[in-house]
Amino acid sequence: MSADSLQAPAPLSFERQPHPAPTSDADRAAVLASPGFGKHFTDHMAHAVWTADGGWGQARVEPYGPLQLDPSAAVLHYAQEIFEGMKAYRWADGSVWTFRPQANAARFARSARRLALPELPEADFIASLEALVAADEAWVPTGGETSLYLRPFMFASEAFLGVRPAAKVDYLVIASPAGAYFTSGPRPVKLLVSRTYTRAAAGGTGAAKCGGNYAASLLAQQEAYAAGCDQVVFLDAAEQRWVEELGGMNVFLVTADGRLLTPELTGSILEGVTRDSILEIARDMGLEPVEQRIALDDWLSMVASGEVTEAFACGTAAVVTPIGSFVDGGGTKPAAAETEVAGKVTEAVRATLLDVQYGRAEDRRGWMHRLV
Ligand code: COI
Repeated sequence: MSADSLQAPAPLSFERQPHPAPTSDADRAAVLASPGFGKHFTDHMAHAVWTADGGWGQARVEPYGPLQLDPSAAVLHYAQEIFEGMKAYRWADGSVWTFRPQANAARFARSARRLALPELPEADFIASLEALVAADEAWVPTGGETSLYLRPFMFASEAFLGVRPAAKVDYLVIASPAGAYFTSGPRPVKLLVSRTYTRAAAGGTGAAKCGGNYAASLLAQQEAYAAGCDQVVFLDAAEQRWVEELGGMNVFLVTADGRLLTPELTGSILEGVTRDSILEIARDMGLEPVEQRIALDDWLSMVASGEVTEAFACGTAAVVTPIGSFVDGGGTKPAAAETEVAGKVTEAVRATLLDVQYGRAEDRRGWMHRLV
């Protein structure tokens, strides 16, 4: 075998097929003035196709639009699908950056393995982000905490009803200008403790970012809204005792003696990139990061004793959002010392992350990756 044939294949080249009728400047400006979350999409999408025989190919950046999907496509029946959530940030000098794309690429590959989907090499994952954001750079908002939310995803597109891993898979990245995830900004959220539903069990898909996990959380989320809550806090499936996550966000507690506690990863909790980043920056902020199992009862008693002063949730979309209270069995209980405003540590963690992401602070860990 020659040395050449041992080399990794060249990254996919996402050839641009420009939109024939892109959004007008005026219409785009109207969207960017008030983007909301996940409501508007840019003019293009990145797309590549994998087949069992040929591997990855057909890479392009094409006009955003509906996909042709066979009604028997495996994803529509067996939910063989994974996704990522990322953001492109506009810096003051006009350049556009994303945060730790290697971490998202690695998690995407782990999710792919769990869902028996093909892994997309890191270089191809990053090339797809660069190609899409280069095509739709004008859609990256400026100012405040706005960003261009990037949604890479992969699904089984083979037309076949047998239950086995699909031999044809589509990978896409779509982009959506975004304001705050919670419309009322970072005010403390109220959580419904789900005693009826769990999100994931040992050996299941809890650590994978797959659509099925989110589908399974929706009924609980609907109950949360009906109870006047913003989100659900899921407990472990075996004992209904240990705090796992909110279904789309990881959880942190701040203690009076300066510890930053988060549930340890047990295989049923999503390995959040924001979670990992907060654990890394904690020491810079004079906090001691601690990953451990957290029983809901202990959380409540640590609030009552004054040991837990603040609680917050984190994720790419929500960044860092204070947790104010729980609804559990009809009663409302405080989740932190202060239930109506964000605590000082929560604010500081949020600001520290955002300052790196928006290029306002030195990127000491090399987390930022320039897209444009
Ligand atoms: C994210 O934080 O990016 C997520 O993927 C969570 C949610 C929007 C599904």
